[in-house]
Parts: sequence; C-alpha cells; structure tokens
Amino acid sequence: MVEEELQQLREEALKEIESLSNLEDLNVFRLKYLGKKGGLTGYLKKLKDLPLEEKKRIGSILNELKDQLEILLAEKEQEILFKQEDVLTGLDLSLPGRRPSLGGLHPLTQIIQEICEVFGRLGFDVVQGPEVETEYYNFTALNIPEWHPARDMQATFYLKNGAILRTHTSPIQIRTMLERKPPLRIIAPGKVYRCDDDVRHSPMFHQIEGLMVDKEVSFSDLKGVLTYFAKEVFGERTKVRFRPSYFPFTEPSVEMDISCVICSGKGCRVCSETGWLEILGAGMVHPEVFRSVNYDISLWQGFAFGLGIERIAMIKYEIDDIRLFFDNHLYFLECFK
Ligand code: PHE
Repeated sequence: MVEEELQQLREEALKEIESLSNLEDLNVFRLKYLGKKGGLTGYLKKLKDLPLEEKKRIGSILNELKDQLEILLAEKEQEILFKQEDVLTGLDLSLPGRRPSLGGLHPLTQIIQEICEVFGRLGFDVVQGPEVETEYYNFTALNIPEWHPARDMQATFYLKNGAILRTHTSPIQIRTMLERKPPLRIIAPGKVYRCDDDVRHSPMFHQIEGLMVDKEVSFSDLKGVLTYFAKEVFGERTKVRFRPSYFPFTEPSVEMDISCVICSGKGCRVCSETGWLEILGAGMVHPEVFRSVNYDISLWQGFAFGLGIERIAMIKYEIDDIRLFFDNHLYFLECFK
C-alpha cells in the first residue's frame, strides 16, 4: 500500500517540478516535499514503526525518491537562474556559438593567380622583378631613349637617388633575357606606379607582362595565345580584335579588344556604345630590345604583351571605381570569397 502511495507521490512531484517557473514556487515545492513537515519527511518518520523488512524496502524507495527530487530541483533551479540572467543581459545562452569568419584572397590576387594558371598551361613560367628600377631597365633598354617623347607617356615617380618606381612590368623582360638564354616563355605579375589618380587610375596598380622568344614565333602565335587567354578568362564566347598601336619596344604593335562582356558587342554604356573593351597592349619584340640583351636577331623572334590587372578585374566583376581594390572595406572584399 505504502508503495502505491509513494508511486503516486512521485508522479505528482515530477509533474509539479516540470511546471515550476520561478524561485519562489521552487522553494514552496521544496518545503512541501522535502521540508521538515514535507511529504517525504512524513513518510521517513513513519518508518520506525514498520517491521524491519518493510523498513528496508520502503526506506530505500524513499531515499531514491528524495535523491531524484533533489537532483531535479537543482537542475530546475539552474534553468530558472539562467533564464533570469538571459533577461537581464539580453543573452540567449541556448544559441549556437558564432563561427569565426574565414578570410579570402583579394580579388586582384585571385585574378593574378587565374591568369598565371592559364599561361602556365601554355608553358609560361612566372618570374618577378624589382619595383624600384633604374631608367635603363624601365626605358633605355626598351628602346625608349632619354629624348624620346614616350618617356612622357607614363608619368614617372622619380626617387632621390636617381632611381625610379617602375612604370610598367616591361623591365622584367630585359632582366629575364639578360639572365636566361632563349628560347623562353615567361609571365611577370607585379605592382607598377604612375603619377595618376582618379576613378579609373590609381598611382599604384598591377600589370602582368608576357614574353615568348623562340626561333619561329610569329604574329599568329601572338594572336593565338592571346585569344586563348581571353576566352579562358572571359568565357568561350568572347570575341577578340587587334588594332594597330604603338609601343617603342614592339614592332608591329597592337592593342587587343574583347567583345563587351556586358552587352556582348551590341553597344552599351560600359563599352561607350562600341561593343568592344580594350584589355591589353602587345606586339613583336623590337630588334633594338633584342640588341640591348645581346640576343642574335637573325636567330630569335618573340612577342610581348602587357595587361592591367585592375582593368581586367573591373571588367570581369563590373566594378566602376578602381579605389575599391585598395580601400580594404570588408563588405567589398567579402563579395569575392
Ligand atoms: N608596357 C606597356 C604599357 O604599360 C604594355 C606592353 C607590354 C605593350 C608589352 C607591348 C608589349 O602600356
């Protein structure tokens, strides 16, 4: 009989604990069951009148019930305290933790890597050169003598010791040819500097130089390699065209356009209604350049090209202000993760 009563008591107590929602009720409950005049204590007192066997049996049931209630009460108390804290501090301790946000590569780094990989497939090595240059490597050896008006084409930063900041990556052509024997195929990404600053120009920007020298390299190799590059980077359906141009270090010289990535050639604001976007300068290496690095011009031929990374990135991602690349706003950078 006592067992049945106790079982009923347990069920009631468990239900009541469930519904407790504040510390006052919790204390009332504690007194009601476990206090000096509480339900369980009453039974414990009655134990002494029972025969030994029953005393043991009922006693252990009572102890177990008491332990169970105490554990549940302690848990309930924690729960109530946590909730109170949440209300006070605005914390919801049941929320999952925040993941640390991972960084990503800068969009320019991504483009440089992508382009290096495309040319890597064609057997081009990646090389580098210094950003502080001499006028010799940056101009003279590239067939731009001192009196040449082309020196003014690129607004140069002069340093105190007579050195300059390179205005293009072309001096790397000279350094590489002096270091290596032909044949060679290289591309050279890097920072370049020009005294220029507006929404499309930054005083520091990035170029990739390309150079291929071999016994039989013709203008059609130039066209083939650069067309492959354009399709890989801007998509298979991209069209290209070559326009005659002028650089002192190439002859003949060209500029390459791609069909506008926005309107596919129909004409829009981005391509100034022409359907074309200019993306790089190129040409066959000028014999004077080969002479300055002592390559035998009766044996060797080559083509070179140079492209601006920011310009490629602005076209590819439809970005209209070059300064976004250098402001380091996270909301911009996170778009490229
Ligand atoms: N160096 C040229 C520039 O910065 C680009 C170029 C490189 C053109 C190689 C032809 C060949 O404008």
